[in-house]
Amino acid sequence: MLNFFMSLAKWLQTTWWALDIGSSLWAYPFVQLTHFAGLSLWIGTNFALDLRLVGLGKKHGTGAELSRTLFVWNWVGFGAAITGGFLLFSTAATKYIQNPAFAVKLGVLIPLALITHIVVQHKALGWGASREVQTAGRIAGVVEMVLWLCVITAAVSIPSFEAL
Ligand code: HEM
Repeated sequence: MLNFFMSLAKWLQTTWWALDIGSSLWAYPFVQLTHFAGLSLWIGTNFALDLRLVGLGKKHGTGAELSRTLFVWNWVGFGAAITGGFLLFSTAATKYIQNPAFAVKLGVLIPLALITHIVVQHKALGWGASREVQTAGRIAGVVEMVLWLCVITAAVSIPSFEAL
């Protein structure tokens, strides 16, 4: 299994886009910018809904309304973050798949946080139908924020594990 992922990673980092991005002075920072701008939109809109579920901003409408309003921006952010992340990964895929922080981020934390987010976004229509959010919604909001903070912690730890 590990051999399969290693062969895939070797192929990925010799694709034309990986070589172009990795060797260009402006393309790599631009791809980083795409990843970070997408993440700002994604994490920002996730937290806005989670905080509303927890009980903040009651005067400004219901959680259900906020979930509907932010839906498109939320997934546009995700699309940009994933595209940028995939391209960054392509430039040094064999290095990243051997990095424990990257493996935990991509293999465990992102899937967990993403499933939680999809459930929260969908259920917010019911939990947040009135201004007072149901207890399950408050708990789910906290759980989602904690999971994304874990993803960010794993991501910023990637360089620390590079030398191991
Ligand atoms: C959507 C959830 C994601 C979050 C919250 C996230 C978060 C972050 C953060 C905060 C960094 C900056 C690390 C630093 O420079 O200190 C980063 C870098 C990076 N991300 Fe993501 N990311 C996400 C998804 C992805 C995906 C899906 C991939 C790959 C397919 C990816 C690949 C990378 C790579 C390769 C880096 C550069 C790591 C380095 O060399 O320092 N990310 N990410």
